Parts: sequence; C-alpha cells; structure tokens
Amino acid sequence: MIVCVCNNVSDKAIRKAVEQSGVRTYIQLQRVTSAGTCCGKCGSCAKQVLNESVEQY
Ligand code: FES
Repeated sequence: MIVCVCNNVSDKAIRKAVEQSGVRTYIQLQRVTSAGTCCGKCGSCAKQVLNESVEQY
C-alpha cells in the first residue's frame, strides 16, 4: 500500500527504513524516505505505520 502518494513511499518502504536504516522517529523517516515532505497529508498514516513498525521490530 502506498502511504505517501507525493513521494511514492509504501508501508513496506517504511518498514524497511525501520529495519535496515535504524529509523525510529518521524523526522528520521522523512530524511530517509522523503515521506511526508511534500503536501504532508500522509503524516498521520505514515506516523501510524512507523509506530507499528517500530513496535514490531
Ligand atoms: Fe505524503 Fe503528500 S502524500 S507528502
């Protein structure tokens, strides 16, 4: 599923950023994947996927 349409970032890409790039915060996620850096509409969804990925990791 695509979470950030502007930057074409999927939930899988967010999970990968957590597992392989050590991403733990939304700011880190923005730096690594660019998710949420354009219109910002995906912010709450991206944060939710991020938090779930961190919890499961
Ligand atoms: Fe993610 Fe626009 S949908 S910044």
